[in-house]
Amino acid sequence: MKKILICGAGGFIGGHLVSHFGRKKDIEIICADIKPEKFWFQTDENLKNYSLDLKDYENALKVTENVDHVFNFACNMGGMGFIENNKAECMLSVLVNTNLLRAAKENNCKKYFFSSSACVYNASKQEDVFISGLKETDAYPADPEDGYGWEKLFSERMCRHFTEDFGLETRIARYHNIYGPLGTFDGGREKAPAALCRKIIQAKKNNLKSIDVWGDGEQTRSFLYIDDCIKGTIDVFNNECHDVFNIGSEEQVSINQMIEIIEEIADFKVKKNYQLDKPKGVRGRSSDNSYVTKKIGWKSENTLKQGLTKTYKWIEGQINSGSNINKFCTSNIESE
Ligand code: GDD
Repeated sequence: MKKILICGAGGFIGGHLVSHFGRKKDIEIICADIKPEKFWFQTDENLKNYSLDLKDYENALKVTENVDHVFNFACNMGGMGFIENNKAECMLSVLVNTNLLRAAKENNCKKYFFSSSACVYNASKQEDVFISGLKETDAYPADPEDGYGWEKLFSERMCRHFTEDFGLETRIARYHNIYGPLGTFDGGREKAPAALCRKIIQAKKNNLKSIDVWGDGEQTRSFLYIDDCIKGTIDVFNNECHDVFNIGSEEQVSINQMIEIIEEIADFKVKKNYQLDKPKGVRGRSSDNSYVTKKIGWKSENTLKQGLTKTYKWIEGQINSGSNINKFCTSNIESE
């Protein structure tokens, strides 16, 4: 029986990975997150769940004991509204990855996964509205997103050197704006897909004519549905190759185009109140999946419309039921 540790298990991607593994009989899952368990997005009381701060080396040592595989999603993160205003907090996640790597080495763990981000990519490649997708090689020369992106790039590098110097097998995926049900949609850390679904749901419910949109709406992104992300994560982890891989979508849309898709799902039209002083991030971003598809065969399957339809329905259900699943979003802690 394999022992797998999922760090950041109370967060969005970590929670979905726990639920994926939860269905398998031949593995034992251990979960860790800084949040108290009652705030985890998904939790299974039959698993060993730790609520502790992995910035602390002693805690990292404790959770990695006798563990075969480590998945690290634990970091302080959010959408542009969070990462642009909390650069030091984001950079402090370097302590989580560093101490987990040290502990994994000390406890002879066999393999270690690090969740990186499209925020590592060089800013000069993302200045136009529509760009060709970012290739893995576009991270260097380094000029990543200030704060959050620097931490991710540095931590990628740390993984690489733990492999080269100490023989710890590491795998890294660069996620491109992952979205879906059981994620943050309110409170300040939400990313654009969830935020805009929420705004349109509330506008429809309250018969409001307009929603606030950050920037001029012409900026572009590609968004990856959570199920594709989980599949990509497993594929990257299981592959022999320890190169860094994009796990993203190649369906590049402007924020205005994404709003049109959500309007169709909602069957409700809104006027857009553009807020030019809000955090905007890079002008254009999308993934080039040619390398990951060639090397390990992974590609995204859900279209943005399919993924947003499922996300919209889940958020609508949450809002209509008055669920407080997002109550922790106002707290100062959150994982991938
Ligand atoms: N969050 C949010 N909320 N963004 C909005 C909104 C809104 O109501 N309205 C428009 N936007 C715009 C933002 O201004 C930005 O230009 C774009 O939508 C995307 O914003 P986010 O989804 O918040 O973030 P991002 O794509 O710039 O970066 C996210 O993805 C990265 C990986 O690709 C962040 O979560 C990063 O932490 C992550 O690494």
